[in-house]
Amino acid sequence: MTNIEDLRQTLFARVSATNEPREILKAAELKQLYTVLPTLDPSERGAYGKAVNELKVTLEAAIVARENELEDATIEPLDVTAPWDVNSALPALLPTEQGTQHPLTRELENVIDIFTRMGFEAIESRQIDDDEHMFGALNFPANHPARDGYDTFRTEEGFIPPAHTSTMQNRILKAGKAKLEAGGHIAAVSYGRVFRNEDVDATHEHTFYQCEGVYVSETATLGEMLGTLQGFFETYYGQKLKIKTQPGYFPFVEPGLEFAIEKPAALGGKPGDWLEMLGCGMIHPNVLRSADIDPEKYRGFAWGGGIERLVMLKYGIEDLRHFESGKLAFLRKFA
Ligand code: DAH
Repeated sequence: MTNIEDLRQTLFARVSATNEPREILKAAELKQLYTVLPTLDPSERGAYGKAVNELKVTLEAAIVARENELEDATIEPLDVTAPWDVNSALPALLPTEQGTQHPLTRELENVIDIFTRMGFEAIESRQIDDDEHMFGALNFPANHPARDGYDTFRTEEGFIPPAHTSTMQNRILKAGKAKLEAGGHIAAVSYGRVFRNEDVDATHEHTFYQCEGVYVSETATLGEMLGTLQGFFETYYGQKLKIKTQPGYFPFVEPGLEFAIEKPAALGGKPGDWLEMLGCGMIHPNVLRSADIDPEKYRGFAWGGGIERLVMLKYGIEDLRHFESGKLAFLRKFA
């Protein structure tokens, strides 16, 4: 009997070491066991036969286990998050080139980088908002005609897909109040997608992008604002620029200004070609009050403008509709 036990251990060791475990059933030592049977005393044959049988059954189980193990090892792990062509062979007719960032995404990141380096925190704007953030907290009185200038969409529930990133001002001010009171300042930009119920043409889209800036301290000045904006545009276009402002009306700033740059010669401009880039001004006291910030103690400036306009000038793009068109011929120029 002990040699059956020894044999079991030898055969099991071989099973776990081979890639062909079923071959072990043909082992000469195993066959040998049967030839022993007739030579035994009849009184011993029953127990011996049982032990051999048991060995065969457990060996079979060990072989099946080893076979399963070998099969598992040949299955490659599947990354279900990978692009489709990583997990399967490439069908010849499907496109295999890699995608790229949309030009607006890339330029928006560029804009945010510049403001971040100037010390502004960057916050993405919301894509669904309410009347209070769109108008109320921005000093638009109820039923004021200035509301009509924004062509806002509205959901049946009365929510608003924001028509400007200024919807974030109140949140930025409230979140920064503690910093002001600790002797610091608020400096943030908010960027994101905005929506207007416009007739679409080469210069109007229902969906576009804006970037908004807010700066508040005890001493903020209009001069600082102009310096900040000029610095931004010169960094973005990589050259010195002439700027000018003219009065503009926005209920949330006083005074309110429209800010223009002279179209650079490198981008096809002639002296005197002024391009209006954004709206800006000193934050209206009521806007500070709506965030519970004392306008007697603190002052700030804000600006907001479209991203497409920046990008169109940089690359000489003549039609705003290209951006949302999904046309690959256009997008590939920026790959
Ligand atoms: N929200 C304005 C618009 O979309 C742009 C704007 C003007 C933003 C003046 C400002 C600002 O922060 O001070 O037309």
